[in-house]
Amino acid sequence: MTCSYASRARFHRSMTRPFFSKDRISHFDIFEKHAEDALNQVKGRLKEGYPVDFQDMVCRFTLDSATEFLFGKCVGSLSAGLVYPKDSLPGQNREYANHPSNLFARALSEAQSRSMLRSSMGTNWRLAEFWSDRIQKDMEVCHRFIDPILKDALERKRSTKEGEQSTGHAYAEGKGFLEDTLLGHLVNCTEGKADEIVNMLIAGRDSTASTLTFLVYMLSQYSRVLKRLRAEVLSTVGNSRRPTYDDVREMKYMRAVINETLRLYTPVPFNVRTSTEAALWPGVNGGPPIYIPPNTQVPYSVFLMHRRKDLWGPDADIFDPDRFIDERLKYLTSNPFIFLPFNAGPRICLGQQFAYNEASFFLVRLLQTFSSITLAEDIQTRSPECDKGAGRDAQEKVIVKHHLTLYVDEGLWVRMGEASNSDDV
Ligand code: HEM
Repeated sequence: MTCSYASRARFHRSMTRPFFSKDRISHFDIFEKHAEDALNQVKGRLKEGYPVDFQDMVCRFTLDSATEFLFGKCVGSLSAGLVYPKDSLPGQNREYANHPSNLFARALSEAQSRSMLRSSMGTNWRLAEFWSDRIQKDMEVCHRFIDPILKDALERKRSTKEGEQSTGHAYAEGKGFLEDTLLGHLVNCTEGKADEIVNMLIAGRDSTASTLTFLVYMLSQYSRVLKRLRAEVLSTVGNSRRPTYDDVREMKYMRAVINETLRLYTPVPFNVRTSTEAALWPGVNGGPPIYIPPNTQVPYSVFLMHRRKDLWGPDADIFDPDRFIDERLKYLTSNPFIFLPFNAGPRICLGQQFAYNEASFFLVRLLQTFSSITLAEDIQTRSPECDKGAGRDAQEKVIVKHHLTLYVDEGLWVRMGEASNSDDV
């Protein structure tokens, strides 16, 4: 990491870290109302006879939860409703496509894909964009969505100051906002830089949505995992009680299912670091050492590392949550750096526990509501590799893509069976 970047990162962390204390991340109220809204809409859509794009729905859930947690104000992306299959009659509705939260989601995703393209070109991307900035248009759409949130925060800050000056007291509502939300805090520290906010949204929304999407994809493929996970949920919280922080900690199989998803479909698949000094790295498989000059970008892939048989054993390609419980745990305990979904060291993810809580909470509510999940193969865009050759790719029924985060191309279309109280788990 270069020095100026390192100090900026330290500043950024010191600003944001206080907002991820145990106290704040174990407030499940935020998840509850958005999960209820999301799952009611799913039930409605399935009753209409259409499958649901789980990825789109869960992105709305995580966006609404993240904006409320971080900024004290939910952007209401669930209120736009869920997406219909493209070829269906309601799927042609232009009004839906132009809903501000849908325009924002599309632009954010497009901007991420283009940023990825930039980083793959190294410092040459400026040449490739000599005539025009290829991210600008999408960023303008994102700003149209984010700037009102920012403006509102700055206004609250101003009224807090004016209230304090005229009365000599802390202006209660604004004061609470500035102290209690990350946005309030960022506004205090930085006068509200929109880029910080976009960073937070990407960190808070896409990675958890990616985890839940691939986890549900796996549940649609491995019914015995679904059955066992549902049994654990029902035996811990029953079929309607809201889970607590302690319930979530107790569900060991759930943690294993989440970890196995994070291993095989790690949400941040590629990353890069820049060397500050020259270094000599040990060679690969006993080969000659590798010289890394100073100030050099070193890309690396956690996605590929998580699938290496020399690190995870001969069945590394297979989705099996038990590897985080049975004797295969030895691979991880003897070498903890083989599992890095949240990175490690000074830049480790600040939202890790928040993400485990959010994903677990949503899964509990999902499995209390539905007892079966199947991939809607009539709608799903299938991987061209499916059923060809060997290895993980041959088993893939969906097209796995990535920009900054991993996602399913064209969405994850599922049908789910509603649970009844008499369900045998
Ligand atoms: C399963 C979900 C998540 C995964 C897999 C994940 C993964 C990561 C990774 C790999 C990094 C390091 C990036 C780098 O080294 O360049 C990171 C950083 C970060 N994440 Fe997460 N993340 C998740 C959820 C969240 C959530 C929900 C939040 C916030 C609500 C969050 C907030 C952050 C922040 C603030 C950083 C930047 C830390 C810094 O500046 O050093 N993450 N995350």
